[in-house]
Amino acid sequence: MPPEPYYITTPIYYVNDRPHIGHCYTTVVADVAARFARLLGRDVFFLTGTDEHAEKVVTTARERGLTPRQWSDANAAEFRRAFRLMEVAESDFMRTSEDRHKTRASAYIKRLMDSGDVYLGDYVGWFDASQEEYLTETVAKEHGFNSPVTGKPLEKRTEKNYFFRLSKYEDRLRAHFDARPEFVLPEARRNEVLGRLRQGLNDVPVSRAVKEGDEDWGILMPGDPGHRVYVWIEALCNYLTAVDEPERRKYWPATVHVMAKDILWFHAVIWPAMLMALGEPLPRTVYAHAYFVAEGRKMSKSLGNFIEIDLLEAYGRRYSIDAVRWYLATQGPLGATDADFAHARFVEVYNADLANGIGNCASRVGNMIEKYFGGQIPEEGGWGEIAFDLGFHRTGSEVDSEVADWLENFEQFDLSSALACGTAIATNIDLLINRTQPFKIAKQIENDVALRVVLAQILKHCAEAIRIASLLLYPAMPAKMASLWRAWNCSPLNDPDDADSGFRAPLAELAEWGGTWSLKPGQRIAKGDPLFMRADPAEPAPTA
Ligand code: MSP
Repeated sequence: MPPEPYYITTPIYYVNDRPHIGHCYTTVVADVAARFARLLGRDVFFLTGTDEHAEKVVTTARERGLTPRQWSDANAAEFRRAFRLMEVAESDFMRTSEDRHKTRASAYIKRLMDSGDVYLGDYVGWFDASQEEYLTETVAKEHGFNSPVTGKPLEKRTEKNYFFRLSKYEDRLRAHFDARPEFVLPEARRNEVLGRLRQGLNDVPVSRAVKEGDEDWGILMPGDPGHRVYVWIEALCNYLTAVDEPERRKYWPATVHVMAKDILWFHAVIWPAMLMALGEPLPRTVYAHAYFVAEGRKMSKSLGNFIEIDLLEAYGRRYSIDAVRWYLATQGPLGATDADFAHARFVEVYNADLANGIGNCASRVGNMIEKYFGGQIPEEGGWGEIAFDLGFHRTGSEVDSEVADWLENFEQFDLSSALACGTAIATNIDLLINRTQPFKIAKQIENDVALRVVLAQILKHCAEAIRIASLLLYPAMPAKMASLWRAWNCSPLNDPDDADSGFRAPLAELAEWGGTWSLKPGQRIAKGDPLFMRADPAEPAPTA
């Protein structure tokens, strides 16, 4: 049976912004999940990209003496660069200004017009220009007719508009929420959406009047050159336009759309209703995480405290990009609570999990194998009584249970708990070494040759456990784990020099204790450089 497809998406980011930790966070989370799925042998399609048709793009471009196309090209390139830097390996980067997106999105709108799901009407509303979004009278009033996000005054606008018959899908949506508890996650977010759904749904505007000078930017309403498709509506379509071609159709419906809670309503209600109207199956899960804040404070333009890509790059230079990915993936706001990017915490996690954790554990074991067995995985001997006395015969089953937990957590999209299964193995191996004291055994070998077997077995157990831990850690730290595999001559990658080259077998085989892919006696392992140098907590934070 062909492996089940796994299609994961990030929001497409406003091309007017500069990439910051928020964009990188969601994209790294999606990349980590995509790597979990690839490691499991799934056929993965991972989509990210940029949302380019906002009105602001036209105005900013004009202010800078550029065409919207030039301005978007430059900024989309910044997002690509940011994601390359973060070691993100997307399958496709969708720009909404591409013809493939425009043609297909336009065809979907045409279908909705033909079916009567999109119709022409009048719209009066409060427009938040900074967010490209209309607010309801209630929400506008609640915020004193200012933008809830930027605090700038809202504009009252009346427009001839096309509407999407969202109200028609209210019952079907509610039924879908009831039937599929995993449709919107985490649960706190699901309950919020359900609460709002119960208040009833109004039809939503899906077009904007074309303004002089911006005729060429965006997608025109089919058959009406006076109206453009509202940027949010066509942006949502990107998830489908990207795979709406014969070789990619197998990926639809998406397995998971990942985003932050700010844009959940569009993804959990409007997009699914559009899909119902189009007769398309719905995504399995819409996952809305919380926010990253910076050193305990919400990031905002006015505070000027955005953690931009340049700062993340500086962290990467000092601690490695994999360490940055590790922090994002394990300390980030997956779930319902916000998370802090704080330097002191970064160093603490880096030292505990990486430098003193897997890094130290791998070099300890590598060094001992080098010193006592000439850098070769030792021959196995029969079990000695002592193996049972020292308790290391249990290592295999302990590792198996971490692998099972890893899988279970990934299925719940609890990526940090899944990754913690990898660190748990390293911690256990450290404890095993402390308990069995192989360095002491090594000193006694001269007097008792049987001890050599014990030493061999302990180290072989340790090395095999680390090999499996490294598989579990790979999704967050592809480059570091690929370098460990190269040093230990045990790369499961198609190309050991390319961390994105895919796996030679699925995890079920790769992570089998003592199985086909296990470390074999005689196999050379180089002790290599330490994976992570210890960080000095007293050193000031890097600067961009
Ligand atoms: N263009 C729309 C999305 C259209 S999707 C069909 C948009 N773009 S955005 O550039 O504003 O990106 C918003 C997304 O960026 C959030 O949903 C989240 O994924 C990410 N983040 C932005 N700031 C964030 C934090 N402070 N913390 C975590 N993620 C955040 O909305």
